[in-house]
Amino acid sequence: MITIHPKNKPLPQPTTAETPETPATTPETPKPSKVIAVVNQKGGVGKTTTAINLAASLALEGLPTLLIDCDPQANTTGGLGFGRDDARPSIYDLLMDHHAADKVIVPTDVDNLSLVPGSKNLIGANIELVAQDRREYRLRDALAPVRANYPFILLDCPPALDLLTLNALVAADGLLVPMQAEYFALEGISELMSTLDRVTQSFNSSLALEGVLLTMYDDRTNLSQQVTENLTSFFTDKLLKTSIPRNVRLAEAPSHGKPVALYDSKSRGAEAYRELALELLARNNMESPEVARRRAAAAAAASALKSFTKPEKKHRFWQSSK
Ligand SMILES: Nc1ncnc2c1ncn2[C@@H]1O[C@H](COP(=O)(O)OP(=O)(O)OP(=O)(O)O)[C@@H](O)[C@H]1O
Ligand SMILES: [Mg+2]
Repeated sequence: MITIHPKNKPLPQPTTAETPETPATTPETPKPSKVIAVVNQKGGVGKTTTAINLAASLALEGLPTLLIDCDPQANTTGGLGFGRDDARPSIYDLLMDHHAADKVIVPTDVDNLSLVPGSKNLIGANIELVAQDRREYRLRDALAPVRANYPFILLDCPPALDLLTLNALVAADGLLVPMQAEYFALEGISELMSTLDRVTQSFNSSLALEGVLLTMYDDRTNLSQQVTENLTSFFTDKLLKTSIPRNVRLAEAPSHGKPVALYDSKSRGAEAYRELALELLARNNMESPEVARRRAAAAAAASALKSFTKPEKKHRFWQSSK
């Protein structure tokens, strides 16, 4: 079990006798989208940086993407250029049933990327939710009507296993775990895996590990290589091939209110998150619409060039052979 704040707090048990995966009101539709929770109980490992930049990269590949700020710190919201505004509908209103999802979702400066903003009110939600019906299913139920609109929904979680994170895990299909390649990173792994097991057994049987992502990675150090070897033998193919290098542009971008793809699209950080988006698509047997569009455009240009150059070549050959 993951316990960070406070330590050793037991996982809440299901509040109803209903089948855990049955949303209260909305009938289950064939899975139209993938909900991925970016989770690690450890603080400062790159969850928010990954949530923002992976979501933006998927959106820029042409896939409508929804990013949800589940953390009371609201760093995802600030990192996308939204100032503090206590009157703005937020994830808090979604969880407390004040507003439906379509009233809370806002567009961002990135094409195809929408946001459910965070709010400092979330600090109180952990306590307020305890008395609510289906307290672990609030986010899952709230997202059901809009899931079909987004091939990917990403949830940025706080560094704690509280009711907010549990709501994210119950709403999710996949867990993406950012991790730094350092000695202590390995310590939390078994706790994380047993939390996944418990959530799968009690609340959400379709939750699975999507992947483990190395962040702030420096492949020049022996320690990084050693930790990577250990993680590879532990996670096998769940350790993502893409790793995110330490890159100052990634740290600077949020203060400009932009994902790195808009702040400095040529930086190593931007390239790594684009590569991560493509790896995620490939793992889910999906193709990037942008890649497909570029391939079709290149094929059209090549065939136009071919039909344009062929007659000219023949003509020259005929002239020179005379
Ligand atoms: N690849 C990177 N290169 C350089 N700096 C990075 C990178 N990834 C994250 N950072 C920086 O490290 C710090 C922590 O990152 P981030 O906020 O994404 O972690 P987090 O896991 O969301 O933290 P918290 O647990 O507090 O929510 C931030 O200052 C961020 O800008
Ligand atoms: Mg964060």
